[in-house]
Amino acid sequence: MKAIRLHQVGGPESLRYEDAPKPIPKGTHVLVQVYAAAITPAEFAWYPTFHTLEGGIRSFPIILGHEFSGVVEAVGPDCMGVQVGDCIYGLSDWFIDGAQAEYCVTVPANIAPKPVTLDHTQAAAVPISALTAWQGLIDRAHLSAGQRVLIHGAAGGVGSFAVQMARHQKAHVIATASAANTDVVKALGADEVIDYRTTPFETAVGDVDVVLDTIGGDTRDRSWGVLRKGGRLVTIAADAEGVKEQRVRDAFFIIEPNRNQLMNISHLINTGVLRPLAGSVFAMEHFRQAYEQKPMHGKNVLHITQEWQMSRKGAPE
Ligand SMILES: NC(=O)c1ccc[n+]([C@@H]2O[C@H](COP(=O)([O-])OP(=O)(O)OC[C@H]3O[C@@H](n4cnc5c(N)ncnc54)[C@H](OP(=O)(O)O)[C@@H]3O)[C@@H](O)[C@H]2O)c1
Repeated sequence: MKAIRLHQVGGPESLRYEDAPKPIPKGTHVLVQVYAAAITPAEFAWYPTFHTLEGGIRSFPIILGHEFSGVVEAVGPDCMGVQVGDCIYGLSDWFIDGAQAEYCVTVPANIAPKPVTLDHTQAAAVPISALTAWQGLIDRAHLSAGQRVLIHGAAGGVGSFAVQMARHQKAHVIATASAANTDVVKALGADEVIDYRTTPFETAVGDVDVVLDTIGGDTRDRSWGVLRKGGRLVTIAADAEGVKEQRVRDAFFIIEPNRNQLMNISHLINTGVLRPLAGSVFAMEHFRQAYEQKPMHGKNVLHITQEWQMSRKGAPE
């Protein structure tokens, strides 16, 4: 198969588009024909990119891109609940090869039916951002109707889903974004948008039940003061891992795959409650541009197969 593989520690310059062995599904594994895979530049610095789950060192070359949309090509002998030909989206395990390849391996618990209202390139950019927003706002912060939530980075991949989910929960949504993104964030459902470049948010908002911090550092540190007594702060910014303060460490989490949540997210997309913001789509061979061109919104995506082009022209998926 064709794959984009990382040959040393580094950035996009260390990736090569080349031939690689096609994986074979064993046990409960699912082999996916990847139609599209999203770009997550932070993966170049992630621990699992270079380590095994047991703490060993992974050997090069390594395939990045752990969220994808595609079709089930084959299943292992012990795999349950997934059929060859299923049109799915989801995640592969952080500690093994990812989906920037014609085929990748995953497990049933990490995938769900693709939203039917999205094509593969749109669906591939949903899993990480949408699951992170869900797990932050609902699983950890227990956001409920009538509460006030402050969402930092509301125009970003995670923030844009969080605004829409919070709106759907009937919360009062206060968002931070640059002025250029104010209209976009309001259209997603924010009640108030603060331009973080001109207004210190703590002068404009207070008495908040929940803060979702996607920025970290000074933004996170200044956010404690806007919480009402008993309010909760959740952060996803990786710098929290290096902070000694216990409340920061407690506020940090890393997204986990979750089939039920992916199914709920599919349903909310199909019914028009959630609308993903799209980055740009690049041919697999143009992976360097996909990493280097910062998307206006959402994530950049690689389209991987000829079948993707057929589906865009209206052929059955
Ligand atoms: N822990 C986890 O499990 C997890 C999961 C997913 C992502 N992450 C991390 O979470 C972060 C956000 O991810 P993402 O995919 O949403 O990123 P993204 O799409 O790049 O969005 C970041 C947004 O932050 C905004 N921004 C920058 N500085 C800001 C500030 N001082 N105040 C408010 N907004 C600001 C930018 O908005 P403007 O364009 O309006 O300036 C941009 O839209 C990244 O660091 C990512 O690595 C962690």
